[in-house]
Amino acid sequence: MPGGNAIVAIDVGTSKVCTVVAEATADGRTAILGVGLCPSRGIAKGAITDLDEASATIARAVERAERNSGYRILSAYVGLSGAHLRSTNSRGAVTLPPGGAEVTPQDVDRALEAAGNIPLQAREEVLHLVPRTYNLDGQEGVAEPVGLVGRRLEVEAHVISGAAGATRNVVRGVERAGVAIDELVPEPLAAARAALTAAERTMGAVLLDIGGGTTGLAVYVEGAIWHTAVLPIGGNHLTNDLSIVLQIPFESAEEAKTTHGRATPEPDGAEGDDADRLEVAGFEGAPQVVSRRLLHEVLEARLEQLLQLVGKELRECGCEGLLPGGVVLTGGTAALPEVAELTRQVLGVRARVGAPRQLAGLGDALDGPAFATAVGLAQWGLARQAPVERPRRPARSDTGRRERREGRRGLGRWLRELLP
Ligand SMILES: Nc1ncnc2c1ncn2[C@@H]1O[C@H](COP(=O)(O)OP(=O)(O)OP(=O)(O)O)[C@@H](O)[C@H]1O
Ligand SMILES: [Mg+2]
Repeated sequence: MPGGNAIVAIDVGTSKVCTVVAEATADGRTAILGVGLCPSRGIAKGAITDLDEASATIARAVERAERNSGYRILSAYVGLSGAHLRSTNSRGAVTLPPGGAEVTPQDVDRALEAAGNIPLQAREEVLHLVPRTYNLDGQEGVAEPVGLVGRRLEVEAHVISGAAGATRNVVRGVERAGVAIDELVPEPLAAARAALTAAERTMGAVLLDIGGGTTGLAVYVEGAIWHTAVLPIGGNHLTNDLSIVLQIPFESAEEAKTTHGRATPEPDGAEGDDADRLEVAGFEGAPQVVSRRLLHEVLEARLEQLLQLVGKELRECGCEGLLPGGVVLTGGTAALPEVAELTRQVLGVRARVGAPRQLAGLGDALDGPAFATAVGLAQWGLARQAPVERPRRPARSDTGRRERREGRRGLGRWLRELLP
């Protein structure tokens, strides 16, 4: 924490590492005090694949944010991603002392801990617990049980688990860059925090963050998180396809995608013969003419496949038909023209492109879909500072100690979010 009421967030993405220094304004917006960006190395599909390169990238992004903000960065809220993340909805209950005792924060923690006791695969651990709703003596839909009187408290929780090794590597990458970790936060939840409106969450909506190497998914039903997943497909796959089909270098395909790309071809007739010719840099820099329509068709084909996979996730988690709020698209790939239209066609729901909401200060620098995760992590950290949302357990700064203590109970790191 840089001092005062400012907090730091680091989004360790496949394409870029983004460090944000932020502070809450009096009216509850997020004032951006500084930003540090660095193109990623040593990170693939949201996971660290080369510790030295990844920690050097993180260190550079942190240094830039320090220069940009004038703060010294000691600790940060850090995003956790990768296809190893999975979610389970589970229930846990505790019996309260006889004689009509008030529910205490410790009772709530015990109930959550019981809910987190899910069957785990080898080398998997529970990373995050979110209470969805409480039931007190049979009374459903209790939002905040602390202070109420009862005999049996049950919590319905959203449990996010993931590979212990991949998680530890993120911790090591960040700590090696000289930054302690305030909390690890699953990235789809962070992006949802920044980009979804409360109304969308209540109606039922999906946050779809299509980054460079991954697509993060966070599904909200009746105001609470219902399903979280990360698919190992992102914008890099689109660029790769273009590079192969158009037979041009990856860098040139990336440039063509970001400057001339569309998620669907233009309507018939709009692209005449001449208009269809697009000059790009070929191998060894020689100019090469490619078809604009073919470029768009390649992007459409891969995006359609990705969206069909998303549709399958939604069917399998049982929330199809429960999402009138539709899909909110974030991540760099959401900048592709017509991506919301294609999403509507493939998934048959409303769709819009989202960006971080309620920014102030240097917020203009982060006012795009690619920054939803970084800003969401910052907003997560700021909410933790507010007295009502302070975690009931101390924020984790000494990974090893907490891991040892909690690992014994088979619960892994134990992080939680309060109901919105
Ligand atoms: N204008 C644009 N049109 C199309 N694609 C774009 C555009 N701008 C950025 N992208 C793509 O967005 C992707 C990067 O998105 P983002 O910055 O959200 O990724 P990331 O967070 O680093 O990665 P991940 O979340 O997968 O770990 C790249 O594939 C890039 O090509
Ligand atoms: Mg990302």
